[in-house]
Amino acid sequence: MTRLKVWDVPVRLFHWGLVGCVALAFYTMKTDGAPFIFPIDIHARGGYVLIGLLLFRWLWGLVGSHHARFRSFLYSPASMWGYARRLASGHLPLFAGHNPLGGLMVVVMLLSLTFQAVSGLFLTDDIFFNAPLHGLVDRSTARTLAGLHQLNANLLMGLIAAHLLALVVHRLKGERLVGAMITGRKSFAGEPEDEPAKAPVQRRVSAWVALGVIVLAALPVLWLWNA
Ligand code: HEM
Ligand code: HEM
Repeated sequence: MTRLKVWDVPVRLFHWGLVGCVALAFYTMKTDGAPFIFPIDIHARGGYVLIGLLLFRWLWGLVGSHHARFRSFLYSPASMWGYARRLASGHLPLFAGHNPLGGLMVVVMLLSLTFQAVSGLFLTDDIFFNAPLHGLVDRSTARTLAGLHQLNANLLMGLIAAHLLALVVHRLKGERLVGAMITGRKSFAGEPEDEPAKAPVQRRVSAWVALGVIVLAALPVLWLWNA
């Protein structure tokens, strides 16, 4: 059994922060929003934090530790197809980071979440809430964006359901992914395909780079929060 560190602390904090903000966004819009007096305000504030988290993740995908980087988990269509075929034939190829299909799913989720949070910045509830960038667009554009915000929210629910279903499938096939998103470590019965023993991957990032990315991501959140 090999045990490897795969998810760095920032990726794990990002993931669980994301889950909290998305749950809050759906809760405040799909229920009466109790105990919040102004659910739309909480909805928007959760969205601002989410924008910071997403900006962080896009940057971390460029400069973060090995398995956090896009180039480590974006595969060619041929690799995705090959992976899907091996999975369908009952095989479970071992990957330390995101597998070829999982990597695609991650990017699609990040794009959809980014669209959701950014489109929200231009909306109004026509009662008392105007989002910070609402004044920049005319009425009909704001309406179109509201329609897209609603449509993409439904797409997101589908993506999240597929994400959770994929985790269940991996678990049934004997791979425990959830524990790794908590502890950062994964155990393998063999050698993962994306982790060749002869070329050890870089697992640490300089504290200054990490700090720079965190500060950059925090700036729009501070601005939106006080806008
Ligand atoms: C990932 C983050 C977000 C999610 C999942 C989300 C989800 C939703 C959902 C499900 C609705 C109800 C749509 C409907 O059924 O009519 C909604 C409405 C709304 N959202 Fe978001 N939202 C997010 C971010 C934001 C942000 C950042 C803002 C503003 C700063 C925002 C502003 C609004 C407004 C104003 C409405 C009401 C629109 C109307 O009354 O027609 N949302 N959102
Ligand atoms: C709002 C719901 C959720 C969203 C939007 C979401 C989104 C994501 C995203 C974007 C990633 C990629 C992480 C990265 O590389 O930065 C990811 C990975 C992951 N998520 Fe979620 N997630 C959600 C709920 C959950 C829940 C409830 C669980 C656990 C029960 C979970 C477990 C995982 C695991 C284990 C991975 C790593 C998968 C792998 O090993 O390739 N997620 N999720």
